[in-house]
Amino acid sequence: MGNSETGIVSPFDKIIDRTGTESLKWVYPRKVLKVDNAIPMWVADMDFEAPPAVVEAIRRRAAHGIYGYPLIPPSFWQAAIDWLKRRHGWNVRKDWMAKSPGIVPALNYCVRAFTEPADGVIIQTPVYFPFYHAVENNGRRLIRNPLRFDGRRYTMDLDDLERKIDQGGRLLILCSPHNPVGRVWTREELEGLGRIAVERDLLVISDEIHHDLVYSGHRQHIFAALSPELAIRTLTCIAPSKTFNIPGLSTAVAIASNPKLLEAFKDETERAGFELGQVFGIVGFEAAYAHGGDWLDALLPYLEANVELMEKFLEERVPGIHLVRPEGTYLALLDCRGLGLEPVVLNEFFLKKAGVYFSDGMMFGPELAGFVRVNFGCPRSLLEEALERIERAVAGLPERANRP
Ligand SMILES: Cc1ncc(COP(=O)(O)O)c(C=O)c1O
Repeated sequence: MGNSETGIVSPFDKIIDRTGTESLKWVYPRKVLKVDNAIPMWVADMDFEAPPAVVEAIRRRAAHGIYGYPLIPPSFWQAAIDWLKRRHGWNVRKDWMAKSPGIVPALNYCVRAFTEPADGVIIQTPVYFPFYHAVENNGRRLIRNPLRFDGRRYTMDLDDLERKIDQGGRLLILCSPHNPVGRVWTREELEGLGRIAVERDLLVISDEIHHDLVYSGHRQHIFAALSPELAIRTLTCIAPSKTFNIPGLSTAVAIASNPKLLEAFKDETERAGFELGQVFGIVGFEAAYAHGGDWLDALLPYLEANVELMEKFLEERVPGIHLVRPEGTYLALLDCRGLGLEPVVLNEFFLKKAGVYFSDGMMFGPELAGFVRVNFGCPRSLLEEALERIERAVAGLPERANRP
C-alpha cells in the first residue's frame, strides 16, 4: 500500500495484523466495550514494527532459550549516554542514572522519595492521567496549575504556578513534550519555569518520554540541561518506549546529576522490590538507542504527514472538529465542541457511530470536556479510513445552528 499522492511505498504503510498478540489497544474495544471492527486510536502505542535492529536483537536473545535473571551490561548505559549526547546535546554520566520498569513507576517512586505525606505536588492540567494517580495514590495533595488555551495552542500559566507554590506545592511533575496537548515547550518557556523553580526551591520531575518525537520547526530542550541550577533540582525520566514503539518492553531510566535525588530514587525502587531488569527490555532498550536513529529519522516525516493529512481532511470535510496541531508526540487533541454533542456521549458517538475508538479528553482533566485524544501512530491508509468513518458519522448528526 503506497502513499496515494507520491506513489512512494514506506515501511510504515504496512498493515500488520496484531490479532493474537493480546494487544491492549486492539483487544479492549472488542472484548471489553463489545464493539467489533472499531479502529483503535487511543492508548499510546503505534501500529508499526519496531526498528529492525531491535527485532533482530530480541530474536537473537530469544533463540538462546534460557531467560534467567539478567545483569545490565555497561553497553546498555552507554547506548543511552550516546543517544542523549548525539540527539539532544546532553552529556550525562552513568553514575547519574538508575533503571526503572517504566516511567509511570518512576513517577510514583519520585513522589514517594521527594515528598512527605500531605505535601503538595503540582501538575499542569490537562495532563496524562497517571500523573494524577502518582500524586493521589501516594497520599500527597494534588495541586493543579492549569494550562492556558487560546483555541489553537496551550501555554503555561506561570503566575498561577507561583500561587500554587504559595499554597504548598513542593514538587512539579513536568510533561515535556506534553501529552495530550502536544506542546514542545520552547527554551524561553522552560527558562521561565526554571527561574521560578530556582527562586522558590521547587523540585521537578521531568517526564521526557516523548523527547525524540518532535516535528519540524520545534526543538526539544531537556529541562535539566538548561542550567546547573536546574540540574540539581531535577530528575529526568526517559525511555526508548514511545520513540521506537517498544512500551511493552517495560524499561526506562531516571537521570539526576544530584546524588541526593538519585539515591533517594534508588532507595525507593528498592523499597518497591524492583531490583533486576527484564531480559528482553534490556536488549531492546540498548538496540533501539544504539541502532534506531535511521528508523526514527524515517518515522518522523511519516508521522508529520499524518498530522498534515488529518488537519486538511478535518478542515475541509468535517465541520465541528478542529485538530489542535501537535508540535511533537503521536497524540493530538481533537476539539469536537463544534459538534454540539454532550461531552459524556462524545467518545461513545465515535465508537458506536463511527467505529473509531479514541481516548476521552476528560480522562486528562475536566478542561477537556468536548475533546478526544487521537493516536495517529498508524499506517496512513488506516488513518484515512478512520477519517472517512468520522466524516460519515458526523454527516449523520442532526443539523445544528451553531455548526459552521
Ligand atoms: C507522558 C507519559 N509518561 C509516561 C508514559 C508511560 O510510560 P511507561 O509505559 O514507561 O510507564 C506515557 C505513555 O503514554 C506518557 O505519555
